Amino acid sequence: MKVRKPSYDYTASLPRWCRRYPEYSQVVNVASLSLPYLEPYLNSVMRRAQARLGPRHPLNHDIGLFCRQEAAHYLQHDAYNEAIRKAGYARLPEFEQRLRDHFDRLLNERSLKFNCAYSLGFESIGPIYAEWWFERTGDVMAEADPSVVSLWKWHLAEEFEHRTVAYDVYRALFGGYVERVRGLLTFLRDLRALNGSAVKYLLTEDAKQMNDEERARSRRRFAEIRQRESAFVRSRLIRVLSPLYSPHKLREPRGVSQLLQSIEAAA
Ligand SMILES: [Fe+2]
Ligand SMILES: [Fe+2]
Repeated sequence: MKVRKPSYDYTASLPRWCRRYPEYSQVVNVASLSLPYLEPYLNSVMRRAQARLGPRHPLNHDIGLFCRQEAAHYLQHDAYNEAIRKAGYARLPEFEQRLRDHFDRLLNERSLKFNCAYSLGFESIGPIYAEWWFERTGDVMAEADPSVVSLWKWHLAEEFEHRTVAYDVYRALFGGYVERVRGLLTFLRDLRALNGSAVKYLLTEDAKQMNDEERARSRRRFAEIRQRESAFVRSRLIRVLSPLYSPHKLREPRGVSQLLQSIEAAA
């Protein structure tokens, strides 16, 4: 595990950077929008867990690297989000405030056990999306801005790289299958509610510039890519829901190591 700080220049092509499925751009953009709230929350949870584990625990080293990787991620997404804000969606601050309040509430009101299970829920999604981006979206991204694609691939490759940390921390401090699943399902429910309304808003704004025919085409494209993504994610979530799930057993998606090596070579 390593901390890498690649630089990408993608600002010119945001927000509709995915040319074959422009609506999917907004789904991904909203994910980016949530990360400078979600990932600092993860780091706070991991730091609290670290304090509970004590200074000599063997997981301390991994937790430190995990937090530094996440910090590099949300700094990049801050810049990404600034470009989306500049594209002129007036209600974006409202959605960001909702995200800020949500993660503050979790930290202030929920137990460390719940927050560790919830964080593990998010971390279990990382490897699923790594596989989606590296192996399943070649055609979707064929004409997309390569800098935006590289940014996401870097992020997801590192999510794959640190996939075991939140799991090991949860097991070391608490364990418990039912609470792990509850954390995952609560995370997924919250994410759908928080991100779903923002995606709907962005797509409604974009649709204002379209004629009836374009709007119908846009709706069809969006339904198609969402259906495809959901079917894939569901097929992998079933594995995470198994009591036998362990991120230690996951296969690395094709291209992950090569991408990380190319970033290191360019540094
Ligand atoms: Fe991350
Ligand atoms: Fe992560």
